[in-house]
Amino acid sequence: MKDCIFTIKSNELIAKSVYKMVLQGDTSNITNCGQFVNIKLDGLYLRRPISVCDLQGDMLTLIYKVVGKGTQLLSEMESGVKLSVLTGLGNGYNLDKSGDAPLLIGGGVGVPPLYLLAKRLIEKGCKVSVILGFNTKDELFLDEEFKKLGCITTVTTVDGSYGTKGFVTDTLPENYSYFYTCGPEPMLKAVYKSTKASGQFSFEERMGCGFGACMGCSCKTVTGCKRICKDGPVLEKEEILWAD
Ligand SMILES: Cc1cc2nc3c(=O)[nH]c(=O)nc-3n(C[C@H](O)[C@H](O)[C@H](O)COP(=O)(O)OP(=O)(O)OC[C@H]3O[C@@H](n4cnc5c(N)ncnc54)[C@H](O)[C@@H]3O)c2cc1C
Ligand code: FES
Repeated sequence: MKDCIFTIKSNELIAKSVYKMVLQGDTSNITNCGQFVNIKLDGLYLRRPISVCDLQGDMLTLIYKVVGKGTQLLSEMESGVKLSVLTGLGNGYNLDKSGDAPLLIGGGVGVPPLYLLAKRLIEKGCKVSVILGFNTKDELFLDEEFKKLGCITTVTTVDGSYGTKGFVTDTLPENYSYFYTCGPEPMLKAVYKSTKASGQFSFEERMGCGFGACMGCSCKTVTGCKRICKDGPVLEKEEILWAD
């Protein structure tokens, strides 16, 4: 973990209440896709965790949805503003298990970390399929970017205003070597029940300290208690015990 000062290069609205922020700074501590950063905001005691969406040299891309005070403050920031960012947090995805045709399943603001994952899997020579789920067309983002990477991309919307009407689990293909998923917990549970293959789940739980010190994010697994922020946010399918 490293506390670095990043400078905002751009911060633009890309979908309903969803912003893409590009930051420049020391990214050397970000070692894996699926990791997250923790951003300090004036007047707020707790930092706000956001997944690494993309990384190119010293440029870090984040995509976030405005849901409360912290993300509202972020959305109002202009280029040139400096931010204190803890980097290199979390374990990230394990690419060794992907097989040659992995499936990536993202819902809402669970989609961003899958973008850097898709890039890395394609670099590895995998044929990547992606299912992106949103409530409605207004909330859609990154679908064109996944297509440009060469991913076989399917979009679902709950109201049917774009792509296939329904949930991500309504469009699961028959054949894939492995899966990676990130999204709201009800979606993760549905993916867990609907998938036959093995895979990895990234949890975007609420957090306290964000670096393993407060136990505020601990959850039970088959191998004992784990902290989502430090031992996760990525857990393997076989180790997850769902809370009722
Ligand atoms: C590892 C990790 C990665 C994340 N990555 C992203 C990302 O890439 N993009 C993104 O938009 N968000 C992401 N989140 C969620 C993001 O951290 C929260 O939305 C943010 O902290 C909310 O701060 P706030 O001050 O705006 O809202 P708050 O004032 O803290 O809360 C406002 C409302 O949002 C709800 N809320 C807050 N945090 C969460 C959460 N984690 N999950 C569900 N509901 C929540 C609260 O219950 C409340 O109703 C991630 C969270 C974690 C733990
Ligand atoms: S948030 Fe403090 S231990 Fe995870």
